[in-house]
Amino acid sequence: MMETYLDWNNSLDILTKAYDAGLFSIIIGPKGTGKTTLVRQFASLMNKDLHSVNFSLRTRESHLIGSKTLAKGEVNFVEGILIKSMRDGGLLYLDELNAAELQL
Ligand SMILES: Nc1ncnc2c1ncn2[C@@H]1O[C@H](COP(=O)(O)OP(=O)(O)OP(=O)(O)O)[C@@H](O)[C@H]1O
Ligand SMILES: [Mg+2]
Repeated sequence: MMETYLDWNNSLDILTKAYDAGLFSIIIGPKGTGKTTLVRQFASLMNKDLHSVNFSLRTRESHLIGSKTLAKGEVNFVEGILIKSMRDGGLLYLDELNAAELQL
């Protein structure tokens, strides 16, 4: 069962406004203050699938966009999580984005 987010800071309303305006949102705060819980609750309220990626120093552009693979003599493109979530019309949560070293 999903934990309910205690919206002490009117965050759900702010996220909804940003979403309706077609804006990206950045959520900043110390560890364990409910950022992930907030995003899960928001996705559930919006009735959207939530795709998440946890960034680290090793995260590459190809994780987001995709990469070519060679299998059985055929070259295929395997879509990354950004493309998949755009196709699905879901929400994409870039967790610990500040850890990323890649240049978008
Ligand atoms: N506002 C809140 N409402 C409900 N639960 C909360 C809230 N803030 C923190 N918690 C609880 O605290 C715990 C940590 O919250 P959560 O994982 O969402 O934090 P976080 O900000 O994403 O942390 P991290 O930076 O480590 O990823 C969870 O068990 C969550 O239920
Ligand atoms: Mg978190």
